[in-house]
Amino acid sequence: MSNFKIVIASDHAGFKLKGLIFDFLKEKNYYIVDVGVNTGESVDYPIFALKLVEKIIYEKFTYGILICGTGVGMAIVANKFPGIRAANCSNSYTAKMSRMHNNANILCIGERVVGDGMAKDIVDVFLSTNFEGGRHSNRVKLIDEVAIKYWNEFLGGK
Ligand code: RB5
Repeated sequence: MSNFKIVIASDHAGFKLKGLIFDFLKEKNYYIVDVGVNTGESVDYPIFALKLVEKIIYEKFTYGILICGTGVGMAIVANKFPGIRAANCSNSYTAKMSRMHNNANILCIGERVVGDGMAKDIVDVFLSTNFEGGRHSNRVKLIDEVAIKYWNEFLGGK
């Protein structure tokens, strides 16, 4: 248990695993909010990635968990936004390093890629690993800096 505020979302391809992870974290007494999808009907994953990202940006949720078929689409969308560092993880080691070195604040998982047991382990490791800071702090800071520089210099005004 912690003070973390967690938000979770999926598309239809991640709907089943989203329910499982939601219950898993509720049982551990985490504060977790589900922003959909609410049925297994086909939807567009960018819509649900955005709903989750807005919780982090505007409502200061600590971590997000995004689930789709592969985790790829969700990660692509989430990483478009400043301050968001979304890591698509299919094993616990990557989940651990994404926190230690990248200070990832969104965990993406592919329901069609990982089994339920591995998914729970990935979530556990992600939520219990701290950012190492040190030499990684400047690298993480540079992520948004280089993106903003690019937007201003090459795409500014277009
Ligand atoms: C849906 O079929 C699938 O394309 C989606 O869940 C996701 O894997 C996209 O990256």
